[in-house]
Amino acid sequence: MHILGISCYFHDASAAILRDGALLAAAEEERFSRVKHDFGFPSRAIQFCLDEAGIRGKDLDYVAFFEKPFVKFDRILQTTFAEVPKSAAVFRQAITAWLLDKLWVKNRIREALGIDPQRILFVEHHQSHAASAFFCSPFEEAAILTVDGVGEWATATTGCGRDRTVDLTHEIHFPHSLGLLYSAFTAFLGFEVNEGEYKVMGMAPYGRPRFVEEVRKLLNVAPDGSFSLNLEYFEFQHSTTRTYSDAFVKLFGAPRPVESLFFTEASGFPSYFGDKPSNYAELAATNQGYADLAASIQAVTEETLLTMARAACERAGTTRLCMAGGVALNSVANGRILREAGVTDLFIQPAAGDSGAALGAALFVYHQVLGHPRGFVMQHASWGARHSMDTIRAAAGATGFRSEECPDEDRMLDRAAELIADGRVIGWHQGRFEWGPRALGHRSILADPRRAEMKDTVNVKIKFREPYRPFAPSVIEEAADRYFDTAGASAQYPARFMLLVEPVRPEARSLLPATTHIDNSARLQTVLPGPSPRYHELITRVGRATGVPVVMNTSFNLRGEPIVNTPAEAISTFARSGLDALVMDKVILHKDHL
Ligand SMILES: [Fe+2]
Repeated sequence: MHILGISCYFHDASAAILRDGALLAAAEEERFSRVKHDFGFPSRAIQFCLDEAGIRGKDLDYVAFFEKPFVKFDRILQTTFAEVPKSAAVFRQAITAWLLDKLWVKNRIREALGIDPQRILFVEHHQSHAASAFFCSPFEEAAILTVDGVGEWATATTGCGRDRTVDLTHEIHFPHSLGLLYSAFTAFLGFEVNEGEYKVMGMAPYGRPRFVEEVRKLLNVAPDGSFSLNLEYFEFQHSTTRTYSDAFVKLFGAPRPVESLFFTEASGFPSYFGDKPSNYAELAATNQGYADLAASIQAVTEETLLTMARAACERAGTTRLCMAGGVALNSVANGRILREAGVTDLFIQPAAGDSGAALGAALFVYHQVLGHPRGFVMQHASWGARHSMDTIRAAAGATGFRSEECPDEDRMLDRAAELIADGRVIGWHQGRFEWGPRALGHRSILADPRRAEMKDTVNVKIKFREPYRPFAPSVIEEAADRYFDTAGASAQYPARFMLLVEPVRPEARSLLPATTHIDNSARLQTVLPGPSPRYHELITRVGRATGVPVVMNTSFNLRGEPIVNTPAEAISTFARSGLDALVMDKVILHKDHL
């Protein structure tokens, strides 16, 4: 039995396909269309899924859509009508967009796939999120917590997963939303909503949470984990252009100019920003205030999530927790949930945001609607496209770069480890690309984390990004506790998906300067030999050469571009950046002769 899951028309469109309940393939549309956060109908991702399954659209048994468009439209109508005439612009925009495409999604799917409309099923948004976590987890029974901006009406839910059902018992409804609260601060701090949230999280350690009391005025949290927003501080409920209100500005002062350079006394002024401005001290002090605000909203978000996680576990009578929704990508909060909420086992799958809801919808149909037993556990994130050695050879041959083909994997791993240990920055393109926003050793840029200068080197030559955005350490699982003080969290699933921030051990901080954040934490990825044999072996060999079995890992893309998929895209990125070498399967490209 084949079930295709689809998520689209909001952000990060994606498709996933199951065969008899086991995942065969899953990918975000942006990897094929090359449009970052592409939200359109995911025709290319769907075709990729069908090709992986070796079937045509009409052979599908079911198609599962990740939300209920009519219920969502009803919410938009109800909330905008309640606010007329303030909301006239939202209303116009919604009517146009929904009538043009979103409401007719069933027709669109039928046309694209040639499937009987009765076999197209719509799953509630948060049920899709919940299913994406619980049905991929190894747990027979677990509490469930989903938190995002908004689905149809729900913005957060708690409930329980048992065997082949997820039962969401408590919901918070729009406009009360922890995700939209965080997004309001994201916009206020000068970043793009739905894109810059992780930048707020990155800025937070540069600040002190001295505005926590002010932030708490915006949000009332009850001990049972329910919450409400103080709506006078927000405008997202009736504006298409502004998320926070004048009262918000009165409380926190002027917003930070969009995408202005961020630096503080602690971060310093990186060389790739250009010349230091004459009013450096004044700008650093202003930025410090914004960093303090980032620290404050992050602290309040963490506290709220801790309360919700505790309440969810208490009600479900278990210490095992599954989380999903965009807010579950807050890796600092996830680390605290494991340390402080009494959670013994935490599961989050790598595409915890809306793209992952495509998979959740498909799993919901298979287990909960059709009642089939479970058997699948998501052990790794590599569900995307792979490329043959022939394709790689052809792409490499078409360039002017010196190309070297290793006779076997053993030789390739030795060469790649040598390059990293020698201080080179390499592109690493291996196997199937990752599901979700993180590069986890299949489409990664890798370097030696022992070299403090690597952070600047990679930023100057390749990433051109803000100094507060940390690079992640990938560590072999058996050595994780030597470098990170995780109290066992390194063995949890979120650690292998780079979804936990944990303290770096005091003795390891000077060993890993390029991946240790200013507050002595790191967003680590633990790498296991079973699910990721090649990447595990590479890091092991780097460890043999350097004494430290850790590599610095960042996603293989240039600023503003989706992570690379094909060898040709990897080569293009290699050519346009300061990468020293590119390793694709057993082929290595070098720049040294240019
Ligand atoms: Fe969502």
